[in-house]
Amino acid sequence: MSTMPPTTREPLLRSADLGDLQLPNRVVMAPLTRARAADRGLVPTELHAVYYGQRAGAGLIVTEGTWVSERAIGFVNVPGIYSEQQVAGWRRVTEVVHALGGRIVLQLWHTGAASHPDHLRGAVPAGPSAVNPHEKSFTPGGFKDTVTPREMTVADIEETVTAYRVAALNAWRAGFDGVEIHAVGPFLIPQFLNPRLNLRSDAYGGGRAGRRRLLLEITDAVADVWEGRRVGVRLSPYWASGGRFTADEETLADYDALVAELNRLPVAYLHLRGRDLAAPGSTPDFEAFARYRRLFDGPLIANLGFDHASANAAIGAGIADAVSFGTHFIANPDLVTRFALGHDLAAGDPDTYYSGGAGGYVDYPVSSG
Ligand SMILES: Cc1cc2nc3c(=O)[nH]c(=O)nc-3n(C[C@H](O)[C@H](O)[C@H](O)COP(=O)(O)O)c2cc1C
Repeated sequence: MSTMPPTTREPLLRSADLGDLQLPNRVVMAPLTRARAADRGLVPTELHAVYYGQRAGAGLIVTEGTWVSERAIGFVNVPGIYSEQQVAGWRRVTEVVHALGGRIVLQLWHTGAASHPDHLRGAVPAGPSAVNPHEKSFTPGGFKDTVTPREMTVADIEETVTAYRVAALNAWRAGFDGVEIHAVGPFLIPQFLNPRLNLRSDAYGGGRAGRRRLLLEITDAVADVWEGRRVGVRLSPYWASGGRFTADEETLADYDALVAELNRLPVAYLHLRGRDLAAPGSTPDFEAFARYRRLFDGPLIANLGFDHASANAAIGAGIADAVSFGTHFIANPDLVTRFALGHDLAAGDPDTYYSGGAGGYVDYPVSSG
């Protein structure tokens, strides 16, 4: 006989282990860039501690994307994890979240060719090959077109892998429970995975196995810092943008093979950004996640367009172990409480997503019924 009574709790509110991360519920806070690190040193502030502390009820918080080095920068007012001041600022955040009973992993970000010279003191950004990704970069002067990047040398790549390792070590020193590798959207790692942007013929290109090498080396380097399984990998196989990023048979086959490779590494979870919704408010395409559920042996977090009902349905159907919520966590700091009590959700204000300051950041109220 089991020592535990049977649970009638809804799937989202049951506990789960993602590798060595133990979650009391399956409601994950998705990584959200909020552009509130406005000082020159890109240091997280007391406001960050308030914001993440308010959301400590999440089964797991994934922080906003955070620069692994100065060269990684490609968006305004995003914090880093490469200086001692940044480590100290993040330590304050993790202490508050832990004091409130939460768990928090740091998302490690590098924009590569999707940066802009305005972020790099005039230097041309570097990427897998000298091919313009045709993206927009959010600079201090507003959104600007990306330029043709410089092709990274092997020494540049080795330096980048080292930067990820040091960033992971700094995250450990700052008290995080783990890290997540940001490999979504049009940024450095997906640039290497992309056959239209990666035209290299050396060990980091030349075919599917070469193109995925950077991500596997980074995952290895970062996982080395942690005992057990505390490194997540976030992928967006269905991403399309700039004309260079498309989800077609070739790129999806690349992702299938990549996900199978990740089984060999000590990954805590795979965090998947699904297909864009067919229409606003429609239900996420479960089959788009099921494809990776079949290929990946470890825990899976599903993301994009979920609400209370569809998240319970996805977990209940065994398609995902947890679901992450982005926009809902912006406007509902007490999202788990609202789910548990069946309360309505508030809507956020997109004008304040990146506006800076406390407004639209730490002033969303908790539900009173
Ligand atoms: C304001 C904003 C900032 C975001 N920043 C990041 C980020 O730093 N890293 C990342 O991987 N995804 C980022 N995303 C994507 C979200 O994590 C998530 O994929 C998206 O909001 C879809 O989930 P949702 O439908 O639950 O909102 C961001 C999304 C928004 C709206």
